[in-house]
Amino acid sequence: MTARVFLNGRWLEVEDARVSVMDRGFLFGDGVYEVIPVYSRQAFRLEQHLARLQQSLDGIQLANPYRLDEWIGFITQLAHEAEWEDQSIYIQVTRGPMAVRNHAFPKEITPTAVILAEAMNTPPASQREQGIAAVSAADIRWLRCDLKTTSLLANCLLRQLAVSAGCVETVLFRDGFLTEGSASSIFVMKNGVLLAPIKNHLMLPGITYDVVLELAAQHGLPHEVRDITEAETRAADELWMCSSTKEVLPIVTLDGRAVGTSGTPGPVFAQMYAWYQDFKATVMRAPVV
Ligand code: PDD
Repeated sequence: MTARVFLNGRWLEVEDARVSVMDRGFLFGDGVYEVIPVYSRQAFRLEQHLARLQQSLDGIQLANPYRLDEWIGFITQLAHEAEWEDQSIYIQVTRGPMAVRNHAFPKEITPTAVILAEAMNTPPASQREQGIAAVSAADIRWLRCDLKTTSLLANCLLRQLAVSAGCVETVLFRDGFLTEGSASSIFVMKNGVLLAPIKNHLMLPGITYDVVLELAAQHGLPHEVRDITEAETRAADELWMCSSTKEVLPIVTLDGRAVGTSGTPGPVFAQMYAWYQDFKATVMRAPVV
């Protein structure tokens, strides 16, 4: 049994949830999305994900079809009724169907809103213990990577580069600077300092990125948010990727070369991973408001 799907205010079985082929999400990738991790049926950092959804909607000039409390209600309901304790909840809002194919927005729109749950697919312990391999590539995406849009072809092509090379992620550089991964944020550890790229139009403002920086601040790990060059990234003592579905993972090879001296997960990664798990456990134990 799979969980029911929310489509435009109705709860449907997945095979009954249909969208028009004239939907602008389908024809133009004209939509935005969120991926929200759910642990023990509680959505993690829900308000932050919904705030970012609003920013993405604002960024593409699409009115939010629901109020915050409505989104929270739908997501909470799905998290309780889906078959898995730990889930990844996917939300998508598109500009909806159009009568004739036309790039310009229709005068009147009926957005398409979808919410669905999948089993949380946490990375295998081996990836955490042995680390993962990554490749690098030029960041060929557009100049509004801060918006979480469904136009993900460049991200898909970039992720496929990693998979075709037997790796997990592609680390992106634009004009000699680190941006992020094809579907993750990237951190560099150098000489005991955690380095994070500046949130701007060239990267997604990651929710997990924020958690990692908050944990660094809370535990007194020196950290700097600044431009990071490609050379600095390649000379990292440790390299991490993070996202809502992967949490934090150590990258131990980049383009076939060992990261740091050992090419194994570093001690600061192990510390951050432990802080992250503790933090999750604390948040999930807190009473639901
Ligand atoms: N992607 N950067 C990009 C380009 C991403 O696609 C993602 C996450 C992140 C990490 O963001 P967060 O910590 O908020 O998950 C950074 C999701 C998981 C996806 O597309 O499936």
